Amino acid sequence: MALLEVRDLRVTFGGLHAVDGLSTSVREGQIKGIIGPNGAGKTTLFNAIAGIQKLSAGAIELEGVRIESLRPFQRARLGLARTFQNLQIFPELSLVENVMIGCHPGARTGFWTAMLGTTGARREERRIEATAYDKLAMLGMADRAMLPAGNLSFGESKLLEIARALAAEPKILMLDEPIAGVPASEQAPIAKMIRQVNAQGVTVILVEHNMRMVMGLCDEILVLQSGRFLAEGTPAEIASHREVIGAYLGEETADA
Ligand SMILES: Nc1ncnc2c1ncn2[C@@H]1O[C@H](COP(=O)(O)OP(=O)(O)OP(=O)(O)O)[C@@H](O)[C@H]1O
Ligand SMILES: [Mg+2]
Repeated sequence: MALLEVRDLRVTFGGLHAVDGLSTSVREGQIKGIIGPNGAGKTTLFNAIAGIQKLSAGAIELEGVRIESLRPFQRARLGLARTFQNLQIFPELSLVENVMIGCHPGARTGFWTAMLGTTGARREERRIEATAYDKLAMLGMADRAMLPAGNLSFGESKLLEIARALAAEPKILMLDEPIAGVPASEQAPIAKMIRQVNAQGVTVILVEHNMRMVMGLCDEILVLQSGRFLAEGTPAEIASHREVIGAYLGEETADA
């Protein structure tokens, strides 16, 4: 059984089918790439899976359970986490506070327990902080945990964002262009982080225009064009796929 399955998904904006009858699936443990030209519907697909974007039609299943009518936070609780194409870091908060935002509060910590500062609430806060430190340690940033995130380079900020998504201990991590705008010298740590996270058992869905990264990291790649399925296969299959080369890779390699 697939970990995540999307069937006949359609998202329409006015007359435009941003995602147009798409079906695909993601296996547990995979790093699945999604590529396609600008406007192909990659971010819209992420938004639909995460529950930020209403579907016009179709079904989404996580571990065999239909989730398309669930709220975004409910899907997050079931194990979906994502980063955004535009950086979402709070520069005045410390690194650890930025990561703590991503942690799920324990089920028993309600509003009043948090407000009254009970022992339970303090214990819960320590647990959340420990999780956040743990994620920062993965990045080698634990020693800077108390510094404002505004001090970080762009690449480090992108890493911090991934750490925040991981703080929710997701089953599936969805990354929307994690190295877009990141200078070449800062890209390797991000690729390494993705590999490491995947090695720890987190399934990854990676949207990225940088073909070297996609080809190097992914075990399967889905190609979208105008909201529709164009091709799916291993990096080698995609790299030699005639229509993909015509629609996308040709222009990308020309740009590179
Ligand atoms: N909220 C919206 N309202 C109207 N049209 C939208 C909206 N969001 C996206 N679109 C349109 O839907 C199509 C798909 O956009 P989307 O952002 O999903 O593409 P993408 O593959 O992520 O592109 P990029 O590589 O540039 O990030 C585009 O034509 C876009 O203009
Ligand atoms: Mg996008």
